Amino acid sequence: MTQRDPRYDILFESVRIGPVTAKNRFFQVPHCNGMGVSFPKAMAAMRGTKAEGGWAVVCTEETDFHPSNDFSPLAEGRLWDHKDVAVMATMTDAVHRHGALAGVELAYTGHRDANLYSREVPLSVTGLPVAIDYPVQARAMDGSDIKQFRHWHVEAIGRALQAGFDLIYIYVRAGASLPGNFLSRSLNQRSDEYGGGFVNRARLFKEMLEDALETAEGRAAIAVRFTIDDEPDEADEFFSCFGEQPDLWDVNIAEWRKDSLPSRFGAEAWQEPLVARVKQLTTKPVVGVGRFTSPDTMVSQVNRGILDFIGAARPSIADPFLPRKVEQGRVEDIRECIGCNICVSSDFTMVPMRCTQNPTAGEEFRKGWHPERIAPAATDKTVLVVGAGPAGLECAHALGKRGYHVVLAEARDDVGGRVSIESRLPGLNEWARVRDYRQQQLHSLAGVELYTQSALGVEHISELAPDEVVIATGARWRHDGMGRHHSGVIPGTNAVHVATPDDILEGMIPRGPVVIFDDDCYYVAGAIAEKLASENHTVTLVTPASDVASWANNTLERRFVEERLHELGVTVIEKHDVGTLSADAVEIHHIHSGRRTEIELGTWVPVTMRDPVDDLFHALSAAQMNEPDGAPWRITRIGDCLSPSTIAAAVYAGHRFARELDAEPHPGVGFERE
Ligand SMILES: Cc1cc2nc3c(=O)[nH]c(=O)nc-3n(C[C@H](O)[C@H](O)[C@H](O)COP(=O)(O)O)c2cc1C
Ligand code: SF4
Repeated sequence: MTQRDPRYDILFESVRIGPVTAKNRFFQVPHCNGMGVSFPKAMAAMRGTKAEGGWAVVCTEETDFHPSNDFSPLAEGRLWDHKDVAVMATMTDAVHRHGALAGVELAYTGHRDANLYSREVPLSVTGLPVAIDYPVQARAMDGSDIKQFRHWHVEAIGRALQAGFDLIYIYVRAGASLPGNFLSRSLNQRSDEYGGGFVNRARLFKEMLEDALETAEGRAAIAVRFTIDDEPDEADEFFSCFGEQPDLWDVNIAEWRKDSLPSRFGAEAWQEPLVARVKQLTTKPVVGVGRFTSPDTMVSQVNRGILDFIGAARPSIADPFLPRKVEQGRVEDIRECIGCNICVSSDFTMVPMRCTQNPTAGEEFRKGWHPERIAPAATDKTVLVVGAGPAGLECAHALGKRGYHVVLAEARDDVGGRVSIESRLPGLNEWARVRDYRQQQLHSLAGVELYTQSALGVEHISELAPDEVVIATGARWRHDGMGRHHSGVIPGTNAVHVATPDDILEGMIPRGPVVIFDDDCYYVAGAIAEKLASENHTVTLVTPASDVASWANNTLERRFVEERLHELGVTVIEKHDVGTLSADAVEIHHIHSGRRTEIELGTWVPVTMRDPVDDLFHALSAAQMNEPDGAPWRITRIGDCLSPSTIAAAVYAGHRFARELDAEPHPGVGFERE
């Protein structure tokens, strides 16, 4: 086995955390996953896989611990009673099996949540409407509520110990946790001994910390997750009071979109100044995050005294075996997170986590998929994969790992398909890692032959005579505006100068004022607007949605997009649909009132829907029908060529084909249910 590079040795030093010891510096910080309380076996298997991949500490997601604060409809962790203890014990067992420590992030969000499942009245520092979109208000806690809350917290720590956790968190973040709400000068409007000056506002945290240390009695470490930018001017005072009390500090940024920063809006290690500040205020071990994928950055942060633990949420999702790969001297095999936040979208949409880079994420239990292991080929079939975009590349990669003979044919002179093309858009360069990882892996797979500049037709495929043909030829944007709001062509399309996103990405220069119609509502329209505005075009973006890039709320990108377009002077017109196009004007109307307006038009950019590029699939299918005995091969289309969707869906489709080839179908619905 290859040995690790000695310059990474420091990452594999053990670190003491109060009464427990972490075997190295790799620390999976709390992250939700859309499974939690709804699919606990899936959650436990996912955490166990990370422990197997070498993470020294593996934490839960935020975990509610009393019905007076329930996080539903989100699928987070739960530790209300003995039933949850049994569930959480399956996670701690899975983590301990691989010599890692298990941490639980106990959280009480106060007026963030509406208690939709328990139907209890929410409690918080101040009486306020709840933050989620639901017409209910939280009640301000009185002295007896606070006493009772402390009792619930102590009981929860008892349950966490029973479940086998080695680290127990107190979560301090204004707006998302009770001690954070009490500390916050804006949220805390109290006039009792818990309100007013710093000492009073910090009282609840002080009591919780003392309760936790006393209850744990050294059986588990007490960690505090602290968002230092909530009240930065009070940080020195806070740490002079509490800096040495917990066993560990886990530091991050308060606002989620800036904490799980999309790569489009910032690079690795952007949290360094905040984490460095905490490290100077305490001698206790400090965890910091920053979408760390480069072992050199990690080493540099440890050596420069910025942090003690490499905290990671997304890098651990994209590659659960990241630590193991560094340890084994296989740094080039790391599947680096691309910062797209599709993983975050699973939390909002409350479905098992998915990841663009790691198609096995969330499938560890229900499909038995392992990120590093895959069953060997069951036959000696030759598989022809046509199209080396995200679906085709992943399909060839996973089939190659199984040991199949694969011919991967790509019409263009480079691989990556839409990933290569879209990663040229502003801020999307890290998305090219989807291509780079797979392209790099293919080099080591002797059974995979890659041919670029190889547009194949039926006759070529007949000559090749493979056993299986996989068509992964992608999709192209429609030019006529058909999409969610228009089930047919937008009238007047033929009269205007049209540039689809594909045209623009292939180099077409728009003329005159550009009007982008975004009926797709994810990243493409906003990124095209950004590109064109940066190139000094006058750009108007019209969308029927209430917000620009509305779906990108789920990936924490939307507000950044809005800010960026505003800075660049793009005119954004929301809640408007398009009526008729004419050579130099677009008629739009408000989707509710119907009030009409005209905008000047030079180039019309419809971002509405894509059509599968499936001509080859249909031609092959027709040729197969004409064969007297049918062609000897099976034809399957995957990814955007079957149904245009996210890059994550394309990678998953490619992986799925490879996993399922010659395999016994899973009985029932195709996966294990809970
Ligand atoms: C999918 C996802 C879910 C998260 N859920 C939580 C959570 O439950 N509790 C929490 O404190 N932070 C949560 N976070 C924030 C992460 O812990 C972390 O601070 C942030 O993602 C930055 O680290 P990274 O760059 O390594 O992802 C979540 C992050 C992600 C990506
Ligand atoms: S979904 Fe995207 S951001 Fe999340 S872990 Fe995977 S690659 Fe990273």
